[in-house]
Amino acid sequence: MTSMINIGVIGCGYWGPNLIRNFSSLPEVRVKGASDLNPERLKHMAQLYNVETHAHADAIIQDPLIHAIAIATPVSTHFDLARKSLAAGKHTFIEKPMTKTVAEARELIELARGKKRILMTGHTFIYSTPVRKIKEIVDSGEIGDLLYISSQRLNLGLFQKDINVAWDLAPHDISIILYIMGTAPVSVNCQGKSHLKPAIEDVANMSLNFDNGGFATILSSWLDPNKIRRMTFVGSKKMILYDDNKPIEKIRVYDKHVELPQYYDTFGEFNYAYHYGDMYSPYLKQEEPLKVQCQHFIDCINDNQKPDSSGQEGLQVVQILEAATESLRHNGMSITIDGMGADAMPPVHQRADWFN
Ligand SMILES: NC(=O)c1ccc[n+]([C@@H]2O[C@H](COP(=O)([O-])OP(=O)(O)OC[C@H]3O[C@@H](n4cnc5c(N)ncnc54)[C@H](O)[C@@H]3O)[C@@H](O)[C@H]2O)c1
Repeated sequence: MTSMINIGVIGCGYWGPNLIRNFSSLPEVRVKGASDLNPERLKHMAQLYNVETHAHADAIIQDPLIHAIAIATPVSTHFDLARKSLAAGKHTFIEKPMTKTVAEARELIELARGKKRILMTGHTFIYSTPVRKIKEIVDSGEIGDLLYISSQRLNLGLFQKDINVAWDLAPHDISIILYIMGTAPVSVNCQGKSHLKPAIEDVANMSLNFDNGGFATILSSWLDPNKIRRMTFVGSKKMILYDDNKPIEKIRVYDKHVELPQYYDTFGEFNYAYHYGDMYSPYLKQEEPLKVQCQHFIDCINDNQKPDSSGQEGLQVVQILEAATESLRHNGMSITIDGMGADAMPPVHQRADWFN
């Protein structure tokens, strides 16, 4: 049954207002309250939206008329705010990355389960039309076996104060990779460098190894002259290029692959067979991923359904980031991630019986 949901948004900096705008656009939702430590941000929100503003998040968390809370504050504050929100019986949406440690993520999942409340993470890209189309193409078998994924997310800034570039940008790539691969990595390697602020890496290069032989690389940087949001999905038959910066034709499917000759007798006969075929760009419906994500949170609350980016998926991303941080501290050493095999991945669109 669909009913009116009152939402409170905590954090109205760069990203929070996008959540307020998108939740406000949903007919069955009212953004009742917004909170920020910065009075200027609250003044601005009150000018833009018909929303009650509060300097202290507790005013929203303890409001009995608020059913659900969205948290868009710096990562270091996510756990405390989300724990209070769940403890107060609110369905809780947390921006990516869900928490700053695996232990915190596990505690929130347990709390949500105990309170029978929806816990969802802001893995926005898995709600985008290009990523959903890529999943459809890969799952159809059109590109053959998915051999590897390479991803680049580069820009000049925006520098974060409390996390390095991998924690800031790679959650997007990791969540897309997990969604497309449909399985979780067993080990991670990561190297990086801090050029401006000690111990806050501004460039990082991560590799994920999967037990089915799959492989993915992610390059993240705040020190690049160009804004690049590019992923390549290399299959045994075809390859997909996804350029999120392109206004049109964000996805291109290339009929290209390389084959080894099955038999050859002499070195002279040995030649790779390069196949160059057509390229096409599939039609993509124009819709804002954030709006789809906000609608999904509301639908999951109304239908008691597990979100596609639930606490479990949030935990997996944090597990990978934590392992990547350990690898960074050991100059790229391979770090095994425990308990992240295929069994750990709950299928998407599964009912939320796991918390009943
Ligand atoms: N899904 C996405 O595509 C996406 C994009 C950008 C940012 N984000 C995420 O959104 C979150 C916020 O990032 P941002 O760039 O907006 O940061 P920001 O620094 O611009 O804004 C954070 C705001 O939170 C406020 N705040 C801090 N502690 C608070 C508290 N205890 N109570 C109330 N307000 C508090 C600050 O005053 C600030 O205005 C991060 O987790 C970030 O990773 C997600």
